[in-house]
Amino acid sequence: MAEKAYQICINPDCGETLSVDQVIFSCPTCGSLFDIAYDWDRLAVPSSLEFFEHRWSTKGLNVEGRLDFSGVWRFRELLQFVRPEHIVTIGEGRTLLEENNRVGAEVGMKPGCLYLQYEGLNPSGSFKDNGMTAAFSLARALGRNRVACASTGNTSASLAMFANKTDPPMQGIVFIGSGKIAYGKLSQALDYGALTLQIEGDFDACMRRVKQVSDKLGIYLMNSMNPFRLEGQKAIMYRVLEARGWEVPDWVIVPGGNLGNCSAFGKAFMELHRLGLIKRIPRLAVINATGANTLYRLHEKDGVRWNGGRYDQQKVKSLYAEFDSTGYLPHTIASAIEISRPVNLPKALRALEVMNGVVREVTDEDILEHKALIGRYGFGCEPASAASVAGLRQLLREQVISPDEQVVCILTGHELKDPDATVKYHTGIDMKAITPPPPVPPKGRFANTPRKVADDLETICAALGEKLPD
Ligand code: F0G
Repeated sequence: MAEKAYQICINPDCGETLSVDQVIFSCPTCGSLFDIAYDWDRLAVPSSLEFFEHRWSTKGLNVEGRLDFSGVWRFRELLQFVRPEHIVTIGEGRTLLEENNRVGAEVGMKPGCLYLQYEGLNPSGSFKDNGMTAAFSLARALGRNRVACASTGNTSASLAMFANKTDPPMQGIVFIGSGKIAYGKLSQALDYGALTLQIEGDFDACMRRVKQVSDKLGIYLMNSMNPFRLEGQKAIMYRVLEARGWEVPDWVIVPGGNLGNCSAFGKAFMELHRLGLIKRIPRLAVINATGANTLYRLHEKDGVRWNGGRYDQQKVKSLYAEFDSTGYLPHTIASAIEISRPVNLPKALRALEVMNGVVREVTDEDILEHKALIGRYGFGCEPASAASVAGLRQLLREQVISPDEQVVCILTGHELKDPDATVKYHTGIDMKAITPPPPVPPKGRFANTPRKVADDLETICAALGEKLPD
């Protein structure tokens, strides 16, 4: 185990440290979360980000090249917590940053200003693979053979894939809520052989249970409160910079659920800045769905700020007490982010401070319209991902972002994760209903409903706007 890395409690008044091989996810002294910290002065770190470019030419060539092939581990100097021989990689992070002027024009950006980071191109179809490779590597170094998570779907798909590809395989155990998972994701967990436990309740209920069970049975927990997950997710930002020739954008916009991703981005930029590898830090926008808007309420309405680690915990407690007393349950079409008690809340507040960030909420209707827009002019994404572009449009309208700024929206999951949402948008048919109700005529601007035509050449040509040639 690399001794130049350790875990540290993020509460500055506590500062409890653990070695990387201690499996404790909330601080025994103050209950806060842990970060992975590095003794950078004793570690070999490149003096400029261009250093990482040479890895393109060595990918796949030798043992080290196995790591160069990964979009996470080719930046391994920035996450030195595990020995290379323990690293579990399945080719995660070979994703794409696309300048997309057509989507940009639709939302009001100038040409050359909007970039979409397609994390759906990961092996399991979402950004989660960036974090799983890191947490699985540690699990392997610790000799663990059972891993578990609670999930709205993507974490479980990723965990299940990594569990069966690790050598020797591990047992993957996933907790999902009742009826709260898109079939594309559920099918993955089942297909990859995870033991899938569906319990009554939502994601937050699953999260509580998986923590208890993992604790009691010594199963390694893979949710993003596991700080190693977030170490891997830092690499999404390294790749964004790499694709932009190391030029820092003005804004990074990301959907917020359990708030692991935005927390990881904040840490990535904090470290890069501290190491002198970037000169400035971009701004952050985290986008909630209106039906699952805990961060929005706390940050924008209640004014809760990280405040050097001394954030107002009372305000958080009273919001959660209100949830309990009113029986509030989150609800959004973007099931991936249907979460009301995000475990990484403190780290997200820190990221918002470091990146001078803002939080917004967008409606389900907005999410679906922007998902269709991305589908029409881009590579597509699942509903939660589209919250980022919907959030961008809102921030442009508010003039928080201006049309000539450089903006990167993170598209967190693949289009095919949730085909039901897409089909329903375009046809009005609810594929999930056991007895489908009659379709509701679609209203969306991009709705593209299949047309019934007779199986007859002339009619088909007519439907294509042509006359059957003689
Ligand atoms: N987008 C997608 C596609 C997701 O699956 C998730 C989270 C998020 C955004 C939000 O990211 O939690 O880091 O703020 N999905 C988790 C899961 C919760 O269980 O798959 P976050």
